[in-house]
Amino acid sequence: MTLPATVKIVEVGPRDGLQNEKEFVSTAIKIELIDRLSAAGFPNIEAASFVSPKWVPQMADGAEVMAGIARRPGAIYSVLTPNLRGFEGALAARADEIVIFGAASEAFSQKNINCSIAESIERFVPLAQAAKEHGIRIRGSVSCALGCPYQGEVPVASVVDVVERFAALGCDEIDIADTIGVGTPGRTREVYEAVTKVFPRERLSGHFHDTYGQALANIYAALQEGIAIFHASVAGLGGCPYAKGATGNVATEDVLYLLNGLGIQTGIDLNQVVAAGDFISTAIGRNNVSRAGKALLAKQRSESACA
Ligand code: HMG
Ligand code: MG
Repeated sequence: MTLPATVKIVEVGPRDGLQNEKEFVSTAIKIELIDRLSAAGFPNIEAASFVSPKWVPQMADGAEVMAGIARRPGAIYSVLTPNLRGFEGALAARADEIVIFGAASEAFSQKNINCSIAESIERFVPLAQAAKEHGIRIRGSVSCALGCPYQGEVPVASVVDVVERFAALGCDEIDIADTIGVGTPGRTREVYEAVTKVFPRERLSGHFHDTYGQALANIYAALQEGIAIFHASVAGLGGCPYAKGATGNVATEDVLYLLNGLGIQTGIDLNQVVAAGDFISTAIGRNNVSRAGKALLAKQRSESACA
């Protein structure tokens, strides 16, 4: 299959990236990060979560963040909502899209939320109905789609099953998420070959964490399957509390460098993303783990030292 000519990058750093930071990141820093990302041209930014602050204290200021950002017209600002209470928060914050999530691994579902996959998705029914009534987009995220920290291998049929359940709820977009970053390109292609039989290819995305360094290879494999929506986190922000040593999402700068090299259009300015990655890494005192980001920053610094 020929590679897509254009790709939508969903920047998830402000939510998936920051949610794991131990020290509270101030609301002002979160807002500045999102504003910088909006200015860089992202069509979709996952900006906040409306979840229990007991579970994810870092996301407790979602309402303030959503109220403080400068929205770029036409861009989609998404928020995570685990229940109706979260949906009410999303509605009040004028979110453009809500994100619901369910695991493809039965062991993960049981250990983390103490119920089966089917039961967990049933709980989203009233939420999905409410979103439809208010004309808000819904995205379903299928976690552990390429592997599970508890059961290891996740059957492709289980991924297909969750995709079908999310489709029945009326999801506009569905993410194939490698939550712990264990997937490899062969498996990635196998999963997309199967799920594209039950949900439109153009509304499927790839959400790859980079623990084993396979995320860019998995993105390339997904591109070969005609997938044209990818999630990425500026400066590679993030980690996963469920797998020791698991890292954040693939770094946005690295994905953009790959796509630019392939001549695939994104509408996003890589230099502005590199600057946003430098801003957030410095602001929270964290190593920037984007290879392309670090290389481009070093190049800019050596050029300005020579000038
Ligand atoms: P629970 O403790 O079982 O539920 O949590 P609860 O109903 O007993 O609520 C506990 C407390 O939270 C109560 O407060 C509620 O009022 C409050 P208290 O009475 O004790 O003072 N509460 C809320 N507060 C604000 N907003 C809400 C909300 N709901 C309840 N929406 C619950 C159940 C689902 C709420 C909890 O487990 C939760 O919030 N989970 C979300 C966890 C989360 O955000 N995880 C990370 C996102 S998933 C992810 O990152 C994967 C993804 O990136 C894809 C991938 O990589 O795979 C998407
Ligand atoms: Mg994730």
